[in-house]
Amino acid sequence: MDAWRIRDFAPEDLEAVVRMDASSSTTDQPPVFAMSDVVGSLLNRHPAVVAVAGGRMVGSAVSRVDDDRAWIMRISLDPEWRGRGLGSALLSELEFRLLSKGVRRITALLPEGETGARALTNSGFEPRTGITHYEKVETVSPRTAGVLTELGGGVPPAGLWKQVAGMTREKSLIERRIVLPLSKPALAAEHGVIPPRAVVLFGPPGTGKTTFARATASRLGWPFVELFPSRLASSERGLAAGIGEAFASLSELDRVVVFIDEVEEVAARRRPGSTTVGVVNELLKSIVRFRERAGRLLVCATNSVRELDEAFLRHGRFDYVLPIGAPDSEARYALWERYLGNEQVDVAALVAATEGYTPADVAHAARMVAQATFECSVDSGVRCHASTQDYLDVIATVRPTLTPEMLQAFDEDIEHYART
Ligand SMILES: Nc1ncnc2c1ncn2[C@@H]1O[C@H](COP(=O)(O)OP(=O)(O)OP(=O)(O)O)[C@@H](O)[C@H]1O
Ligand SMILES: [Mg+2]
Repeated sequence: MDAWRIRDFAPEDLEAVVRMDASSSTTDQPPVFAMSDVVGSLLNRHPAVVAVAGGRMVGSAVSRVDDDRAWIMRISLDPEWRGRGLGSALLSELEFRLLSKGVRRITALLPEGETGARALTNSGFEPRTGITHYEKVETVSPRTAGVLTELGGGVPPAGLWKQVAGMTREKSLIERRIVLPLSKPALAAEHGVIPPRAVVLFGPPGTGKTTFARATASRLGWPFVELFPSRLASSERGLAAGIGEAFASLSELDRVVVFIDEVEEVAARRRPGSTTVGVVNELLKSIVRFRERAGRLLVCATNSVRELDEAFLRHGRFDYVLPIGAPDSEARYALWERYLGNEQVDVAALVAATEGYTPADVAHAARMVAQATFECSVDSGVRCHASTQDYLDVIATVRPTLTPEMLQAFDEDIEHYART
């Protein structure tokens, strides 16, 4: 009865190996190497052996060789042939082939108790317990990576969203209107919610528009591409052509957050006869085309929403026009806590002294104190600490970006332009 024959895998065995693999598993854990990896190894002629009995395939062992190391990708057994030593026999045949390829170390990764585990221990493999298997599936294909490199984009690190301190109103607006529909498109569709494809963020300088755009990409796990008008202008055929070319490249990406900062530079109100007409027209056309496909988001940011061409903000181009305003005292509290590091100071006093500060102002003042404290430690040889007064002294020298006039203009802009 135990008459099996073991031979090298041949391409015509592929279907039988795949079929047997489906019934071979003895655990409910997914395998470490997916079937596609196994097939890849087989098609690339990495060492693999199969066992045949009564004209039927009853077992297989597949490896992948990487220099002097080999991985056992899979040991599969027909359920009727378990516990008869077939697994060990397959392994010893495979091992022999690996040795002749110069392999010095053979590794197998199996869920506990999976088919093949017993064969491995019987064949002298030492189990190493206490190892955790970490895995990350990259969402960016090599083709996408090429386009991203060409456009100077990339995938922002995870966790940027969590680092956005305070600004709870803006954060919650962006989360609800933008992030959630884009990250749960099926549920959104069930409710008749169409995920946004283009949004404008407007507000005074340094309030976090760029930060929010990058954090949104990070939160979605999508690539991020910033288009710089100054760079697009270096296209041989000028800025309008540069915009068209950039958007054409972007159309090759399935998932992307595209960011244009200071968009008023390329979308200022058209004046008859001026050279900006062609540029604005090209951008408007590009946005219409960009909107045709789901799963991509264009974010345009501006400090002066009132300078934008009327057609730019018209319904149908941008789903939302969101104000990103001055941090209130609660937000400044969160910002200070974020930028204080380990210093023990009276945060409330700093909050009170920094009315009119943007997140950028807080970051700047905190950096100045950190630098001075660092220099103190270097010069004195003992660890210096910043006091509340040190902060207040620096704050006295950093003029708040936001003046009452700016805040009033911003309120008017919200009234006229915001679409939330
Ligand atoms: N909510 C926040 N939490 C922590 N840091 C922030 C936050 N918002 C902004 N910052 C920091 O403030 C600085 C300015 O932010 P950002 O560049 O995003 O502002 P902006 O609105 O894009 O400014 P601009 O209008 O000048 O382009 C950056 O250093 C950023 O890290
Ligand atoms: Mg910015």
